[in-house]
Amino acid sequence: MKIQMDIFSIKQIDYFARAFSKLIKPPMIVLLVGDLGSGKTTLVKHLVKYLGSDDDVTSPTFTLMNEYNGKFPIYHFDMYRLSSMEEAVAVGFEEYFDKSKLDGVCFVEWPENVEGLIKDVDFVIRIDKIDDNARKLTVTEGKDASCN
Ligand SMILES: Nc1ncnc2c1ncn2[C@@H]1O[C@H](COP(=O)(O)OP(=O)(O)OP(=O)(O)O)[C@@H](O)[C@H]1O
Ligand SMILES: [Mg+2]
Repeated sequence: MKIQMDIFSIKQIDYFARAFSKLIKPPMIVLLVGDLGSGKTTLVKHLVKYLGSDDDVTSPTFTLMNEYNGKFPIYHFDMYRLSSMEEAVAVGFEEYFDKSKLDGVCFVEWPENVEGLIKDVDFVIRIDKIDDNARKLTVTEGKDASCN
């Protein structure tokens, strides 16, 4: 499955998040692909709200991962500053990406930097900036999903 849509405001990203959140159940892994400032963290912020969490969603650029408490645990990764795949393994990320052990949902920004470590992906959401407020979203599901 592949769905594309253009959205024109933060309000519309919020609508998308509300609808998409209904598809999310543990254990699931969702990759967020797109340039710097395309809106990956913004989308996670809105998704986390609809997954029943009041937690403050911030970019885990330096911490690499934030955890939020919603209807289930939500793990928010940002692999942008990850220096190597070995580092991801060293800090124990492999555990989260093993569906048989995952007790919640993973949202992963910059998954390109851990290519190969995440095998069983449920959705890839690609965000392309059209202009200041408009974005093209491309959602791919299951076996069709990849970062490219
Ligand atoms: N329709 C939109 N959807 C998402 N973000 C939007 C939209 N319109 C404007 N923005 C703005 O674009 C910026 C996106 O920043 P955000 O931190 O979410 O990007 P990011 O993809 O996570 O970047 P990074 O790669 O640095 O982590 C925010 O300032 C947000 O308010
Ligand atoms: Mg971000």
